[in-house]
Amino acid sequence: MSVEQTVLVLGGTGRTGGRVVEQLLGRGAAVRAIVRTAERLPAGVAQHPNMTVVVADLLSLNATELEQYVRGCDAVVSCLGPNLSLKGVFGAPRDLVVEAVTRVCRAIERIQPATPVKFILMSTVSVNRPQRLDTRRGGAERAFMWLLRGVMPPAKDNQRAADFLSTDIGTASRSVQWVAVRPDSLLEGDVSEYAVHEGLVSSLFRPDGTNMANVAHFMCELVTDSGVWDKWQGGMPVVVNVARSTAR
Ligand SMILES: NC(=O)c1ccc[n+]([C@@H]2O[C@H](COP(=O)([O-])OP(=O)(O)OC[C@H]3O[C@@H](n4cnc5c(N)ncnc54)[C@H](OP(=O)(O)O)[C@@H]3O)[C@@H](O)[C@H]2O)c1
Repeated sequence: MSVEQTVLVLGGTGRTGGRVVEQLLGRGAAVRAIVRTAERLPAGVAQHPNMTVVVADLLSLNATELEQYVRGCDAVVSCLGPNLSLKGVFGAPRDLVVEAVTRVCRAIERIQPATPVKFILMSTVSVNRPQRLDTRRGGAERAFMWLLRGVMPPAKDNQRAADFLSTDIGTASRSVQWVAVRPDSLLEGDVSEYAVHEGLVSSLFRPDGTNMANVAHFMCELVTDSGVWDKWQGGMPVVVNVARSTAR
């Protein structure tokens, strides 16, 4: 890959985001990570010569600061999500992902990059593609999802973030192109064989598994392989392990 690629990673201290940071550095990219706590990054990455760590509360950054951090980036990868605790899931901010995606995309638009910046969002299979492009879910599943979005703020947040990309950014922006990557239940494990589908392949009641390492791998492919990007940009691909895992 080209060593000139610079990638801003959001959520780089998370389980998937940390893997993205490691894999991008392994591919020779320069990585900028905005994190709340540098110590939560994977061991050794903060010292990597191609790594820049910005310690800040992402949603507290003002417009000028955000413009500074996106300037010169070829891609942005967001693996943000609430921490899995009562406070993380039900406390503020209840709109972490959509707020971060909106503010960062707007910052990119304001700096008017010479070529569009790739925005790669870690989404989930509970998110629907617009215009009912996914296979229609069964009645029980639709009712469950309706309930989920009503009572679980992160479920609504994830859908709103994907809707922002598909509706507000769309496919005609000169500044931002995007992909919302939809993994199924997240699993530990190394990079393994995985499949990428245009739409949903499993019911929420009989989920597939997706190694976080595979999510990171596919996101890195989107950053570094123009053929992969051209195939999926403006889409919401579903990523699942080829082998069904028993280790959930
Ligand atoms: N669980 C699943 O099976 C599943 C399946 C598919 C998709 N997903 C989605 O995938 C995404 C990432 O999942 P994950 O398990 O890799 O995430 P994770 O390990 O929980 O990491 C979340 C990241 O978001 C950051 N973050 C949380 N609250 C923040 C705030 N208020 N301000 C700034 N940063 C904040 C965390 O930073 P700190 O380290 O500072 O806390 C961390 O870097 C989530 O959106 C999730 O909904 C999950």
